Amino acid sequence: MLTPGDLKDRTAVVTGGASGIGAALAAELSTYGMAVVVADIDEQGAQRVTSELQERGATALAVRVDTSDAASLEHLAETAYAAFGSVELVCNNAGVLTFGDVADSPVDDWRWLSSVNVEGLLNSVHAFVPRMRAQQGWRHIMNTSSTHAFLPDPGHTGLYSATKQAVVAISRGLRQELASDGIDVTLLCPGQVASRILDSQRSRPDRFGPRAAEPFGTGVIPIGTIEPHEVARQAVAGLIAGEEIVFALGGGGNFREQVEQWWRTVDQAILASTD
Ligand SMILES: NC(=O)c1ccc[n+]([C@@H]2O[C@H](COP(=O)([O-])OP(=O)(O)OC[C@H]3O[C@@H](n4cnc5c(N)ncnc54)[C@H](O)[C@@H]3O)[C@@H](O)[C@H]2O)c1
Repeated sequence: MLTPGDLKDRTAVVTGGASGIGAALAAELSTYGMAVVVADIDEQGAQRVTSELQERGATALAVRVDTSDAASLEHLAETAYAAFGSVELVCNNAGVLTFGDVADSPVDDWRWLSSVNVEGLLNSVHAFVPRMRAQQGWRHIMNTSSTHAFLPDPGHTGLYSATKQAVVAISRGLRQELASDGIDVTLLCPGQVASRILDSQRSRPDRFGPRAAEPFGTGVIPIGTIEPHEVARQAVAGLIAGEEIVFALGGGGNFREQVEQWWRTVDQAILASTD
């Protein structure tokens, strides 16, 4: 287990760092004395977050990245290592959301969601893990999934939830595979966070077709939300403790009951199959 002081003078890369949870992670990590690479497809936003961190005395660098593009991830890794010499923490946090019923959603919605939420994670793993393997000492990867990966009834978010289930499975595999290299992996599963996630399609590339209609608008999620800085506080505390999973839930909701209900259904099906 780490102590908080162990993060000082180490380097973190945070994708999706220009907004919401990513910006809050960058700020939280910098309070522990980490240098932070704020990486985002929104270059101006990344610059803004970086300037704010620098004004508070932190070491920070903005880099434009499109996580769905392997070459862009490779450029990010090269830039981070050239600037700081090593990277101890990679927060694979960039992610996008559309609401929409599975049967009514164009396949392009899936292609876009999975290009960022799943392939983006894989591109990062391919860019950073070989470099991290060549280092010594503490190294850690934190992947942002969602409570949506565990909900039994992901109404209107079946496609998004599928990408976040993939993040769970990939993270569990990575945690096991990288243990012998001394690289730890933590899965971050926030509940409903007051971020710009409902306006995700602001960064949707044209090649994935027209933007889907957003039934709940593009503002901040109105109910049961947790603030990004509180998610970041719990996330960093969890990674220092070496937790495999960190849930950061808002006040409301019955997430635990829903998960238990789903596992009862699974359990009954397993029992029925062995009768
Ligand atoms: N807001 C929630 O309720 C919630 C809940 C659980 C999990 N999450 C997850 O948290 C993560 C962060 O989301 P957020 O809520 O802070 O939303 P946000 O929209 O405020 O921030 C997401 C950031 O990712 C960036 N981004 C999008 N596509 C990108 C790409 N291809 N390459 C690089 N950067 C890209 C955006 O520009 C933005 O800055 C996502 O993975 C999301 O799925 C969010």
